[in-house]
Formats: sequence, C-alpha cells, structure tokens
Amino acid sequence: MKKQYKVAVIAGDGIGPEVLDEGIKILNKVAQLDGSFEFEFTQFPWGCEYYLKHGKMMADDGLEQLQSFDAIYLGAVGYPGVPDHISLWDLLLKIRKGFNQYVNIRPITLLEGAPCPLKDVTREQINMLVIRENSEGEYAGAGEWLFKGQPHEVALQTGIFSRVGTERIIRYAFEEARKQGRSLTSISKGNALNYSMVFWDQVFEEVAKEYPDVKTYSYLVDAAAMFFVKQPWRFEVVVTSNLFGDIITDLGAAIAGGLGLAAGANINPEREYPSMFEPIHGSAPDIAGKGIANPLASIWSASQMLDFFNQEDWGKRLLSAMEQVMSEGTVLTPDMGGTASTQEVGDAVVQKIEVSF
Ligand code: NAI
Ligand code: MG
Repeated sequence: MKKQYKVAVIAGDGIGPEVLDEGIKILNKVAQLDGSFEFEFTQFPWGCEYYLKHGKMMADDGLEQLQSFDAIYLGAVGYPGVPDHISLWDLLLKIRKGFNQYVNIRPITLLEGAPCPLKDVTREQINMLVIRENSEGEYAGAGEWLFKGQPHEVALQTGIFSRVGTERIIRYAFEEARKQGRSLTSISKGNALNYSMVFWDQVFEEVAKEYPDVKTYSYLVDAAAMFFVKQPWRFEVVVTSNLFGDIITDLGAAIAGGLGLAAGANINPEREYPSMFEPIHGSAPDIAGKGIANPLASIWSASQMLDFFNQEDWGKRLLSAMEQVMSEGTVLTPDMGGTASTQEVGDAVVQKIEVSF
C-alpha cells in the first residue's frame, strides 16, 4: 500500500493558483518517481472572489473541513476590492490560529544561481533559518478603538506574550539549533518594549540553560536589521516575535533572492492539526493572469512540505533542481531577468528532478 498524503489546496487569489499549479505538478512528479507515496489534492475555492460572492472568505465550517488533511498548500489571498485586513484575518490568520500553527519557519538561504543585491557576499554567507512566533505577540488581535471617528479617538494594539507561547517557540528554536549543530540568535527589543521584550529576553535566558551545547546570541531588532544586510553570516538559527519576524523575514527574502523565491511554513509541531505551506509573496494583482509569475517560491514551499512529511531527500532534490535552473539562467520568469512563463519554469524544474533521479 502506498502512503497517502492528503493535501488541502487553497490556491486563493491573483497569481496564487498559477504558482500552486506548478508546485502540485512537481509534487505529483516526485510521488510518481518515488513510488512509495502519493498525494491526494483537494481544492478549496476560498479567497477574495469567494468573499465577493458569499460575503465571507471561507465556508463557516472551513476549519472542520480542513481538519483531517495532512497539510494545507496555500497560494496567496488578498485582492483589490476586498480590504486586506479582512482577507488576512478571515482566512490566513483564522487557519494559523485555529490550527495552532505557532511556528513560522522561513529559510533564508541564498541558493546557487539566486540573485543577491548585496555586494561581496558569497552564497555560503547567507544561510539561516528564521523561526517566527506565529500565534500571539502584536498580531494577537488584542486592542481597542475608542471614540472612533471623534477628535479624541484612541487606538490600542496590545502585544500578547504569554509564558506558554513564549517558552514553546524559544524551546522549538533551541531544539532546531541543537539538531543542526548551529548557534541560536534571539531578536528582541528589551530596551524600548520594557514589558514584553524584557520578558522575552528573560525566557530566552531561562530556556538557554537547558541547552548548554547551543551557542546563543541576542540582538536588538534594529541592530539585527543592519547586520542582516552588512554581515548576514552572523545568523544561523534565529528566533523572534511575530511582528519582528514578519519584517525581518521580508528583509531576509530580499537578500536571498527576492519575493519570487521566499517560502514559509506554518507549523503545528504537535501535529494535532494540519500545517500550512505557502510562498510568502502576495497575489501580485499587477501581473496576475499573465502567466509570468515566478513559481519558485511555491516550489520551495512544496519542498518544505516534503521535509515535514519526513521526505527530506526529496525536499533537498527540489532545492537542488531549482538551483540548477537558476544557475543555467535560461528558463526564468521576468522578475529574475528572464522571458519564460510560469509553466516553463515549472517544467524546467520537473526536468531537472527527473534527470537527477
Ligand atoms: P505582492 O507580493 O503580491 O507583490 C509585490 C510585488 O512583487 C509586485 O510587483 C508583484 O508583481 C511582485 N511579485 C510577488 N510575487 C511574485 C512572483 N511570484 N513572481 C513575480 N513577481 C512577484 O504584495 P502586494 O502587492 O503588497 O499585495 C497584493 C495582495 O496580496 C494584497 O491584497 C495583499 O494583502 C496580499 N498579500 C497576501 C499574502 C499572503 O497570502 N500570504 C502576503 C502578502 C500580500
Ligand atoms: Mg509578511
């Protein structure tokens, strides 16, 4: 009997469906070559178009429908015509929170052949794994909007840092650093955020005592932003809060090949709920429907999904196929300076996987 991975596909809006098609094509090819497992993909039509028809981003029992899947593969959600805070909160964040996907993993690795805007930086010098708290912090949705519309209106957005939430993400990062035999850097801001980040730093120090074998560093987020650009080799495994992680990983994406390459995984480590894999770019309305979106980010997130399914060899093969395509440089989408279509890039990656198998 073949092992079956049940994957829920939320292709979403704009270029979401275009780039996911390529990822699905590659995952099916991988399963065919391997022979010991197969994918069963189920499409869910949720997103902004669905919202305009039904007045909601996903079905009311959406989470129940997704619950039994092994993973969720997400394209992009958000489109002009639907306010971004609705598309984000009513779909993406609902899934992240509802399924307790409290770990966001963003690899920031400069792949061979990937464009890098930094001068005099070698490929080996940009190779980090950013682990972002994904369930609370500044994105917990806690706050108040008082006296709305009046001259004295007040908006409050509260950062939530629970003992449980802070400890588990930091411990997850220590485990990962130990597994990889690499250092762990905490990024915070205890000088200005005198409650939440002082607490964060304290928890980091406490947990560090359980991992004497892991070398640790601690940076203020502003200094870290500078070092990402100036000396990215300082960072190996990185752990940070929701807001800082959001910002710093976009910076990371910029130094490691751009938005067309950056991928992220939303993980429920206990595997009580499905985890979710996505390219981190949005729906790119400016190029949607033209067939020129770069599918490499969604292929990288497919590689993360394979790692999650304990098919790490295949995960690596996908990355190596992407590296070959980028190094040759003849089949790339316009954002990477090429003239190829989304499909052509997907086909080129498939071909590299076949050849190297
Ligand atoms: P965006 O990532 O969609 O686009 C920014 C720029 O990068 C655009 O010029 C776009 O053409 C380019 N780009 C992005 N992905 C690309 C790809 N794969 N290949 C080639 N070029 C690519 O960000 P933007 O414009 O701020 O947001 C558009 C919509 O997407 C908004 O509604 C936003 O809320 C949503 N969004 C959704 C996300 C998600 O689903 N996780 C993440 C970010 C934005
Ligand atoms: Mg972001």
